Amino acid sequence: MKVVSDKVSLRKARASFKGTVGFVPTMGALHAGHASLVERSARDNDRTVVSIFVNPTQFGPKEDFSKYPRTLEADLALCRKAGADLVYTPATLYDKDHQTWIDVENVAAPLCGERRPGHFRGVATVVAKFFNLVQPTRVYFGQKDAQQAMLLTTMARELDFPLEVITCPTVREADGLAMSSRNRYLSPDERKRALVISRTLHAVQTLFDKGERDVDKLESVMESALGAEVDRVDYAEIRRWRDLGEIKMIEEPVLATIAVFVGNTRLIDNIVLTPKRGKLASRQGAKRPA
Ligand code: PAJ
Repeated sequence: MKVVSDKVSLRKARASFKGTVGFVPTMGALHAGHASLVERSARDNDRTVVSIFVNPTQFGPKEDFSKYPRTLEADLALCRKAGADLVYTPATLYDKDHQTWIDVENVAAPLCGERRPGHFRGVATVVAKFFNLVQPTRVYFGQKDAQQAMLLTTMARELDFPLEVITCPTVREADGLAMSSRNRYLSPDERKRALVISRTLHAVQTLFDKGERDVDKLESVMESALGAEVDRVDYAEIRRWRDLGEIKMIEEPVLATIAVFVGNTRLIDNIVLTPKRGKLASRQGAKRPA
């Protein structure tokens, strides 16, 4: 496995690859969720490229950019084990006066887009830069960040990037907590309280399986379950899956999606509810939280 940190070496290494190239963009502090994407890419493609870059343009002024965990040695070991061929670890990626941005409008507007102004603009822009640098055949994102995966799928299609976007199931701890680089911020007490997120999604799934289709009812169940344990509910909503639009009754696949603060740590999670099959399922086959 080769590690490069400048654009010239990256392009050179990329040019030496024959056949299909899978790509997994990350911000490091890697865990089994990231590993699942790298492993999937290594299975699907001749070569796999991983990027590790804590992207400053997707953090708000009061967010955790400077204290975001940086664990490069362990990350490289994980990449090697998961089957990566090339890891790109740029120190910076932007000109000082960078002025070109990508805004995906509708999909990026609600939920995390509303609560974190500028966040998705930073994500879309850095990922577009990576697409141009890495020129992958396929790119892999996690369902845990469902809105991000949706807007990057939209961007790739609408800007004609010649690649396939694949969204992979959320990987969870044994007790149900969705894996996240930010979980390492949690104190033991916060870690325990964070379990309410997957428990709440499971409760919504159970009510849905029993026939509940009223969005207001399901959202108020989510609000009160979460409110008892977390420090702030950022949102707990049910949205149309295909475009994240608002609905009153569930008549097509929807995303039940949660963002909360446990202490100072913001955590997100979601499941897809599909009326036809009447059980937890996403197009990618997300697993039921424990
Ligand atoms: P990061 O949070 O490091 O996540 C990198 C990729 O891993 C994303 O596609 C994310 O959805 C996926 N991922 C994270 N936790 C996961 C889990 N528990 N199960 C499955 N997949 C999981 O997302 C970003 O970085 C950045 O915004 C990035 C796209 C790299 C742009 O800077």
